[in-house]
Amino acid sequence: MFLKNKRAMVFVAAGLALCAAPALADKDAGNGGDISAILELTADPAYGAYLAGECATCHASSGTSQGVPRIAGMAREDFILALVEYRAGVRDNQVMQTTAARLSDEEIAALAAHFSAQ
Ligand code: HEC
Repeated sequence: MFLKNKRAMVFVAAGLALCAAPALADKDAGNGGDISAILELTADPAYGAYLAGECATCHASSGTSQGVPRIAGMAREDFILALVEYRAGVRDNQVMQTTAARLSDEEIAALAAHFSAQ
């Protein structure tokens, strides 16, 4: 029984190490982050609501104005993809690239949870 558990522990530890490796490799590649990894984070919508304060200056909840798209109600996947692409510089927009560059994976996940729930 003891031996069996110990083996299971080793197996789990090896599995975790394997999972962590590609995520780190992605970060090193400087591609802005792994979208599926951000989707798997436990997101805190309340923290997202707090962070969203700085977005509201441009992204009015009522709709588009002066070329700023509406982001309230965006699907989580689309929202995360957009921010990761701005952060990586793949999607071109100076303001959003600067904004996204300051956001961590956890903050993007929290913002996605907040806006997708609107
Ligand atoms: C200074 C104005 C400004 C601020 C502040 C700002 N944005 Fe933006 N955002 C824009 C503009 C302009 C675009 C459209 C850029 C483009 O054409 O790609 C945009 C696009 C986006 C998009 C893509 C929308 C789509 O339909 O593809 C997302 C998501 C987004 N912003 C999220 C945020 C979040 C989250 C914050 C706050 C952390 C934020 N923005 C703060 C101006 C702003």
